[in-house]
Amino acid sequence: MARRLTGFTPSGDLHLGNYIGAIRPIVEAQRHAVDGSTDTVIFISDLHALTNEHEPATVRRRTLEFARLLLGAGTDPERCLFLVQSHVPQHTELHYLLECATGYGEARRMIQFKEKAAKQAHDHVRMSLLTYPILMAADILLYDTDEVPVGDDQKQHVELARDIAGRFNSCYGQTFTLPRVVNPPIAARLKDLASPEAKMSKSSASTSGLLFLLDSEEALRRKVMRAVTDTGDEVFYDPEAKPGVSNLLDILAACTGGDPRELSGHFDRYGELKSAVADVVIDTIAPIRKRYDELATSDEREVRAVLRRGAAQARDLGEEKLRRVKEAIGLLEP
Ligand code: TRP
Repeated sequence: MARRLTGFTPSGDLHLGNYIGAIRPIVEAQRHAVDGSTDTVIFISDLHALTNEHEPATVRRRTLEFARLLLGAGTDPERCLFLVQSHVPQHTELHYLLECATGYGEARRMIQFKEKAAKQAHDHVRMSLLTYPILMAADILLYDTDEVPVGDDQKQHVELARDIAGRFNSCYGQTFTLPRVVNPPIAARLKDLASPEAKMSKSSASTSGLLFLLDSEEALRRKVMRAVTDTGDEVFYDPEAKPGVSNLLDILAACTGGDPRELSGHFDRYGELKSAVADVVIDTIAPIRKRYDELATSDEREVRAVLRRGAAQARDLGEEKLRRVKEAIGLLEP
């Protein structure tokens, strides 16, 4: 079976877009797995949260929060590999070795690097912002990943991982599986409710258009009711002409499993559509939130023990992989 992997960076709060686009698909794939399977790898990429200015206490708090939310959303540690990146030193060890197979120009060309670096003074741009796609390649290649389900913004990074793997294989012999991007469905790319031309992103400057998994029901309803809509008052699906309304229909479709075009026929007015969206959003998030709350009030040691077990399993896999990489690249065995 193909191995799928995805990472969640604790640099902002998880929202409905993350759930629909990334968490739900990977949790569903894992549900079909047999016990003890490692065909699905779900990890918290805490090291990636250090590439921009960060608050140490916040990264630590969010890492545990993400673990609880991912478990609350259905991650089953018996049926996947579930870990925190920094608990598995092989990620960073492989990162260095892959840096030795990556060109400076290649890293420098990454669109996300260019965009983020352009917003900061040179001396404030962390080196890790430049090299982070190579760490991402290490995350992917360490586990011989076949499929990486990511949105458009991360596609280039997965392609870089594929290029690095191919180059390494041709220079040093067959070592890595070539990963490929699998695209989440269109409807999974939810937009910001307050500015429907932008993706719902946890690094967005304003949070008024983001539906966080830890928002209260009142907050979720308020954000949906205040969503920016379009001129006119008719409800129909047309992402170009009606980005706001179409986004609401996409959310409705993503939560209920319907088709946005077909669903549009059920509503005469924007207000009706918004109330329906608020209801399904709350229905979708409430069970995750309930399990999150249970995990948050129970003993923290339980969640941490789950993470420790996942890391131990990952270290075993990673160590074996690294042994082969080191041999291929020319390091003397100790
Ligand atoms: N960079 C990804 C993000 O910010 C998270 C991530 C880290 C990831 N390593 C990965 C995703 C490997 C897929 C595969 O969203």
